[in-house]
Amino acid sequence: MTVFARTAAFGIGMCLLGGAMSYLYFNNGATVQREAAPVVTGGRYNGPPCLDKKQGTGQPEPYCGDLPSLAAVNVREAKLEEVVDGFRFPWAFEFINDRELLLTEFFGQLKRVNIETGRSVDITGLPEIATGKAQAGLLDVALHPQFAENGLIYFSHAIGDDETGYALAVTMAELRDDQLEQVKRIFVALPYGTSGSNFGGALMFDEEGYLFIATGDRSIRSNSQHPGLLTGKVIRLNADGTVPADNPFVGKTDAVDPAIYALGVRNPQGLVLDKSTGTIYETEHGPMGGDEVNVITAGKNYGWPIITYGANYTYKSIGEGTKKEGFEQPLYYYLPSIAVSPIEIYHGDMFPEWEGDLLVGALKGAAISKLDLVDGRIESEYKILDELNARIRDIKVASDSSIWILLETGSIYRLSRESSPIEAAREVGKRDGEYIYLTVCSSCHSQNAPGVPQISNPADWTARLQKERKELYRNSINGFNAMPEKGLCEDCTDKEVTRAVNFMLSRVKK
Ligand code: HEC
Repeated sequence: MTVFARTAAFGIGMCLLGGAMSYLYFNNGATVQREAAPVVTGGRYNGPPCLDKKQGTGQPEPYCGDLPSLAAVNVREAKLEEVVDGFRFPWAFEFINDRELLLTEFFGQLKRVNIETGRSVDITGLPEIATGKAQAGLLDVALHPQFAENGLIYFSHAIGDDETGYALAVTMAELRDDQLEQVKRIFVALPYGTSGSNFGGALMFDEEGYLFIATGDRSIRSNSQHPGLLTGKVIRLNADGTVPADNPFVGKTDAVDPAIYALGVRNPQGLVLDKSTGTIYETEHGPMGGDEVNVITAGKNYGWPIITYGANYTYKSIGEGTKKEGFEQPLYYYLPSIAVSPIEIYHGDMFPEWEGDLLVGALKGAAISKLDLVDGRIESEYKILDELNARIRDIKVASDSSIWILLETGSIYRLSRESSPIEAAREVGKRDGEYIYLTVCSSCHSQNAPGVPQISNPADWTARLQKERKELYRNSINGFNAMPEKGLCEDCTDKEVTRAVNFMLSRVKK
């Protein structure tokens, strides 16, 4: 069986491996194999090579780079436009209806933004928010599931000062026009600490109306494993801030604070619920390397700082390695780190080829990492929207299933399209070889992707055309089914790939 293997340049974040790129086509199992990443010397941490990482279902595979062609397929036949701008260090947003969103600015402003007019107003009545120190500021915002009826909003923020120390807090309030009423602090991630960093602060409601809060370790690693402290944890509360009686440790042990839902996280930035499955995904900053995407399950321990794929900024290793019994493995991790921000799950008609995929924002990586999630396992990872070339602060799928992206530079972009070209082509009965070729195959075969035979170069085909057509078909089908570009046409049939081969070979310059 034919398989694509790839060694690819690491294109985002620490661009250490720039340039090196090769493709192989060989007979092996039906998986995407990866070769060792080139070793870059000079003392910089580069992570382990991307070899031996096929660890079985559900096990993480490291980020090993992406295909060169994807810039070409990035937002194919889609429109990327700026919707609003002018925000100062924006952090997070939520749609409150089809015309408006709520947006937090790190330095303590909460804004109500009209996306049709671009006009925004500062909401008044916020509590005191600590903003003077490093990562202390106004962070995430979430809406009560019945927001439309009760107007309740929740936001996370730092509190404290140099004397008392700092902590992450969550405040709830009623939004009445441009004003907060009934403002009530419902949670503090004790203890206070002197550090100005690692607050975490991601908020999320599930379908049953429980509030999840992901808290950072406040730069004291042992906090995350300490069962009595609320730092470095995922917390689950009732919407009024009380502790639910069915939290995982309630009635089991007094050693664990009853508000704790899961332990062992470092500096979480995102929480999202997949409403179709009830699964909760979390993103968190690793130390140096080892940013993680986790599936959060009641009562589990995510291992920080006992296990991690990252290292100290001094290049020293941390803890006891990458795996240990009793600790959860991440669903996916990044080496080197892309500096993850929030995570969103895509469901919708506008980008059906991304259905069920995870979209992870990257700050340093200045792109969105799209994780192709299939049966609970990440099949491929590649970056999209790197043309924005900005630190991504938040991502939300709107009710029309367009994708909205908040940039740290102060604007919100919208990615949309009229309809999926592949779907549209099916409707008008136009999924012929040419169509499939242009939509899927051309991203490599007409874009000078290194190591890929180009239709513009007959020499690439001399030997190949000696083979039997059947063999070319077989290789193409197997190759296509094993590559991330499969995501461009998940439902492309073998027959359609065969037709694309025929079209392609008819265009090879004689
Ligand atoms: C990710 C990049 C990529 C995409 C997308 C891609 N190919 Fe390829 N293709 C390759 C590479 C690399 C090779 C060369 C493999 C080798 O011979 O080592 C190749 C080889 C081929 C060959 C020659 C096979 C042989 O036996 O020598 C055919 C035919 C082909 N591709 C057809 C297609 C078709 C049809 C599509 C779209 C459905 C497609 N490819 C999409 C990368 C790609």
